[in-house]
Amino acid sequence: MKALVLESKKNLSLRDFPITEKTGPYDVKIKIQACGICGSDVHYYLEGAIGDFIVREPMILGHEAAGVIIEKGDKVTNFEIGDIVCMEPGIPKPLSGEVLAGMYNIDPDVVFWATPPVHGCLRETVVHPSQFCFKLPKGMSAAEGAMIEPLAIGIEAAKKARIQPGDTALVVGCGTIGTICAISALAAGCSKVFISDVKQEKLDIAGSYANIVPVNTAKTDLREFIMKETNGVGCGIIFEASGSPRVYPDFFRCAKKGAKVVLVGMMNGTVPIDVAYLQGMGITIETIFRYINCFDRAVALVNAGKIDIKRLISKTFKFDDAIAAYEYAAAGHPDVVKVMIDLT
Ligand SMILES: NC(=O)c1ccc[n+]([C@@H]2O[C@H](COP(=O)([O-])OP(=O)(O)OC[C@H]3O[C@@H](n4cnc5c(N)ncnc54)[C@H](O)[C@@H]3O)[C@@H](O)[C@H]2O)c1
Ligand SMILES: [Zn+2]
Repeated sequence: MKALVLESKKNLSLRDFPITEKTGPYDVKIKIQACGICGSDVHYYLEGAIGDFIVREPMILGHEAAGVIIEKGDKVTNFEIGDIVCMEPGIPKPLSGEVLAGMYNIDPDVVFWATPPVHGCLRETVVHPSQFCFKLPKGMSAAEGAMIEPLAIGIEAAKKARIQPGDTALVVGCGTIGTICAISALAAGCSKVFISDVKQEKLDIAGSYANIVPVNTAKTDLREFIMKETNGVGCGIIFEASGSPRVYPDFFRCAKKGAKVVLVGMMNGTVPIDVAYLQGMGITIETIFRYINCFDRAVALVNAGKIDIKRLISKTFKFDDAIAAYEYAAAGHPDVVKVMIDLT
């Protein structure tokens, strides 16, 4: 079938790729309609690797997708042919210790789309377990469905933050994930979310949402600003979503006593943390890795109008132009959040 294949570092081709997949009793076959480009896809494209995950064989890219069910196994009772669904891209091993402990997100044997050697879903069809498919309500587009995967990260972060009604939050880093954490925090009950970055174009996009207050830390001292805006109290919820070691440990100084801090941004290496300060402030640190049971929540919030996810789709390319879409995403335009590929 036709697929976008990463042949090797910086070498993409849109070509016929031999894939034979059988639809098992609990599986559905989906004709892909929309697929987003993620930071990790761009990383594999430009560098051929992320940490220990190295692209050694041609690999199909893409893991943020939605499409229409065209075939289903005989044990699938909750979907019909013609349903539009989005898909959770990582399938854990059913009886792994992590799954049994309720942490399927950190199962080391997870089979996750477009993580070498596993092929992604930027192709004509995929076969997927129905348990990891989520029906899109009437009126929700496949492109919005493809945004559910990155949105699920924000929902997981909001869950871990244990937000209470009326909390004030700070998000450090206004990339795709930071912006998604901010809109998720609002949907989870925050009254106001500050978001910091050094790139004004990114901040302008996040700042277009009501109750998100951008802070350009190239011009403004973050702690001074937050303390002034919160009458010297600080923020009860903080998400670190830049992945930059340079923001550590300063952003902790924006915390309110008893704050919950969720580390979302990933990095190689270590950062300094002032333990005595954190203890004295009663700060709780949480981490997230991907998501656990968040897709249905994300779909419900978009459907309820509590999250406008469409606004983050900056540009859409047709499948035939998928290589140009990747080049565009890799160029890192500051005013671009999500690049979408339309396969209809
Ligand atoms: N925990 C998870 O499951 C998970 C999932 C997806 C992504 N991530 C991580 O989240 C992070 C963000 O991902 P993204 O796709 O939004 O990346 P991105 O590059 O789009 O966004 C990062 C943003 O941080 C900003 N930034 C960098 N240094 C800064 C500084 N010193 N002060 C303020 N802002 C600064 C950048 O300008 C950029 O806008 C990455 O580290 C990524 O690996 C984690
Ligand atoms: Zn992604």
